[in-house]
Amino acid sequence: MSVEPRDNRLYLDNAATSYPKPPAVAAAVQDYFDTVHASAGRGAYREALASERVLEGCRTAIRELFRCARGDHVIFGLNGTDALNLAIKATVRPGDHVVTTVMDHNSVLRPLSALEEQVGIRWTAVAADPATTRVSPDDVARALRPETRLVVVNHASNVTGALQPVEVIADICREHGVLLLVDAAQSAGHVPIEFRSAGIDLLACPGHKGLLGPLGTGVLLIRAGIEERMRTVREGGTGSSSENPVQPTTLPDRFEAGSHNAPGLAGLRAAVRWILDRGLRSLREHELRLCARLRERLDGVAGLQWYGPREPAERVGVFSFRIAGVEPSELSALLETRFNILSRSGLHCAPLAHRALGTLETGGTTRLSTGPFTTDADIDRAADALATIAREAQQGDVAAPAPNAQVRPVSP
Ligand SMILES: Cc1ncc(COP(=O)(O)O)c(C=O)c1O
Repeated sequence: MSVEPRDNRLYLDNAATSYPKPPAVAAAVQDYFDTVHASAGRGAYREALASERVLEGCRTAIRELFRCARGDHVIFGLNGTDALNLAIKATVRPGDHVVTTVMDHNSVLRPLSALEEQVGIRWTAVAADPATTRVSPDDVARALRPETRLVVVNHASNVTGALQPVEVIADICREHGVLLLVDAAQSAGHVPIEFRSAGIDLLACPGHKGLLGPLGTGVLLIRAGIEERMRTVREGGTGSSSENPVQPTTLPDRFEAGSHNAPGLAGLRAAVRWILDRGLRSLREHELRLCARLRERLDGVAGLQWYGPREPAERVGVFSFRIAGVEPSELSALLETRFNILSRSGLHCAPLAHRALGTLETGGTTRLSTGPFTTDADIDRAADALATIAREAQQGDVAAPAPNAQVRPVSP
């Protein structure tokens, strides 16, 4: 099945949020408004019960996708950032030490910085190989201290697409009795992850990127038993145990205070069902083919620098480029105004990754990221556009972006 984006605009910013979505996603959101429209857990009438079934259906689909044991340990939140904040702030205590990596996103680095300032935790960001941007598990092991409580690892980089060896890191964490939180924002829905057998304690991801659900959805998976080492960071109504002014201890309610984004979760349920029907392995094979094709098309293009692993098996479809003589923001503007291709330039909320790449002070990179509906023809179109701009830059003759182009010096 092909899903055409509008206006021949080639959307290659799936790392920000996926588009297009499977048509069933918008249909499920619309159906929610048409037939359910009530708030889950907030009444005993038919519509409120139907809303509860939507949430349960979404938990079941996610449990199947990640092969996690228990649906009640699938916690819904606002987005990936919200799920990461919950996981970090619920587990880390004053005086603790946390290990993360330079490839991690501000949705990990900023909560850690805030806890450092507010309650005196310490944290270490492990370096990455400058060429592949992959982290060595030995370096993670060396960074552990007696007071290390948590390791947070970005599974796939939102800057270079590099996959980190999370299963090896999980073994190290288990050996040392340290919790492992995986940020699967760029790998969920792209790479098969067996949550239970991989030995991951906590996994956070947005619902709106590779899981193909609507914006405003996020998920935290908790390995059974780990909740006993977590405290709540937000309390409120759950529609359960209402006689008690104290947050319920049972999951998922313990970590899900307040009304749900049920229309969004209806869409997420349809999206994850679509992924399960398609098969994650076949989606991954598609992504691997796209990565190999882009590498083939861009290898040897003079003046074009590509960051991160070249080997498809070591990456997801998130690519960072620079073209000598062209600012990353200008490159994005050129791609949009001359080629109708949508990319994202700047630092991608990952300052330490850009520092490691040497691009922090020079405008970052231009990122293109694929999704399940990206075709071979789309890859060829993007490669041709990049090669054309690189050739013009080599000749000192890059046509300017259209006058109405938005050239943002450094995007956030
Ligand atoms: C690696 C990574 N982690 C976390 C996030 C945060 O996800 P969200 O935008 O859903 O809050 C992102 C978003 O770009 C990301 O790429």
